[in-house]
Amino acid sequence: MKSVVITGAGSGIGRATALAFARQNYHVFLLGRDSRKLRITHLECGDATSIVCDLTRAEEVANAARQILSTNKNVEIIINNAGTFTYKPFEQQTDEEWTAQFQIHILGAVRLTKALWPSFVQNKKGSIVNVSSTLGIRPTAGTGAYSAMKAAQVSWTQSLALEGAPHGIRVNCVAAGIVDTPIHPPGAILQMQNAQPLGRVGRPDEIAQSIYFLASEHSAWTTGAILHVDGGINLL
Ligand SMILES: NC(=O)c1ccc[n+]([C@@H]2O[C@H](COP(=O)([O-])OP(=O)(O)OC[C@H]3O[C@@H](n4cnc5c(N)ncnc54)[C@H](OP(=O)(O)O)[C@@H]3O)[C@@H](O)[C@H]2O)c1
Repeated sequence: MKSVVITGAGSGIGRATALAFARQNYHVFLLGRDSRKLRITHLECGDATSIVCDLTRAEEVANAARQILSTNKNVEIIINNAGTFTYKPFEQQTDEEWTAQFQIHILGAVRLTKALWPSFVQNKKGSIVNVSSTLGIRPTAGTGAYSAMKAAQVSWTQSLALEGAPHGIRVNCVAAGIVDTPIHPPGAILQMQNAQPLGRVGRPDEIAQSIYFLASEHSAWTTGAILHVDGGINLL
């Protein structure tokens, strides 16, 4: 049986991605901070392991990786999806907010990937998908910290793709547009519907399908790709 590790699996895109893999008979390792949310995804997936883990804490990431590797469940895929959004004029953005954005979007993903990387190298096989954003390519005012980290995810994807290729490891990225998930404050999604070229925001399962495509053998000759899944908004 094949296994996948998904961060931020208790809600939104992470939850939808967990369900997409579970439907394809993967064992799903579900990571997140909120055990209640993880339990719900776990019940929906069936064959899964829930691991409560704050990705901003190095020792919690190391423990999670140890737990995953100790199961011998043949992990082949990592989906670095966990994240938080912040919107504020530049002058009000604090060091703490910049640090928090770096820790969740970059350092947490880097630590988890680094811990599982040797097993990918050993198996000469692995696939990683980073969940970035249109804002990582086309930033907007007030999203400096978030957009910079999403841009860093794009760059890291490409660098790691080159490093992983000789080992049979693929690394790709989904640049998601505006998707209806709890990351947005109540009411915000409604306001954004009309600005979308395709006339609506995205659903979590629509991002999950693209993540599944990039992670699986369906894209066996694709690495370093940045796939826009955004209803066309990056074109505006
Ligand atoms: N929705 C959009 O419009 C959109 C657009 C572009 C990109 N994205 C990206 O898509 C990804 C998923 O977001 P979403 O929209 O699905 O939002 P979401 O429903 O709020 O999911 C984010 C997940 O990240 C987890 N998380 C946050 N901080 C964490 C931490 N320190 N340690 C572990 N897990 C943590 C949360 O789990 P816990 O609460 O359990 O910690 C939550 O389940 C994010 O990277 C986001 O930047 C979203």
